Amino acid sequence: MKKNKIFIACDSKNIKKIEEIIKKTRSSQLKIGYKFGLEFLNSKGSRNFISKLKNKIIFGDYKFSDIPNTCASAIKAVKDLNFNYITIHINSGLEALKAAKKVSGKTKLIGVTVLTSLDDKSLKEIGFNKDVKKVVLRQARLANKAKLDAIVCSAQEINIVKKVFKKEIITPGIRFNSKINDQKRILTPKQAYKNGSDWLVIGRPITKGNIKNNLKNLIDHLS
Ligand code: C5P
Repeated sequence: MKKNKIFIACDSKNIKKIEEIIKKTRSSQLKIGYKFGLEFLNSKGSRNFISKLKNKIIFGDYKFSDIPNTCASAIKAVKDLNFNYITIHINSGLEALKAAKKVSGKTKLIGVTVLTSLDDKSLKEIGFNKDVKKVVLRQARLANKAKLDAIVCSAQEINIVKKVFKKEIITPGIRFNSKINDQKRILTPKQAYKNGSDWLVIGRPITKGNIKNNLKNLIDHLS
């Protein structure tokens, strides 16, 4: 049977903690990748640490959001780390997405839609006059137009994204216990896979507390 795929969000500035997360999330039942976000990527020693990882699926969650030239240059600047996946905000605009895709080479370029920590009210506050679902649909169309390799969205919007984007779908905002933290548009792992997510992104529900127990709870939840 095909294994469920999970990116573990390695969110810490402490290399020892990152090593612990990697060691304790090894699993024969799941296909695990490692996602490094802004906290670790901006920490001392992270570059050196990532460059030494061998035989792991690695995801640089840079969430680039800038003008086309800067996005493309930044992607070239991290090329030596050989990430399997990196992210760019779709809100950077079509030209930036195209410029980024032009230089991303073997690294899969993921377009990030509306953050899972935002809801309709938050979008209104920013100045959007459409709800989350409508914005995500438009973003997915742009991702398709720019020929991006994958999309990050909430598992609640997979059916919308799938209408216009046929490649990989990666979903953060996953919760299988009662701690929601700062996330708003959440779903359980089971629901997310059922909706058609290719990869889940899970951080705190696994990395906080007893990592091995948390992983076991996740596997129990899925079986
Ligand atoms: O701890 P938690 O499971 O909430 O971690 C989710 C991870 O996914 C974090 O590293 C966060 O930066 C990232 N992410 C997200 N929502 C997005 C894109 C990325 O939560 N839309």
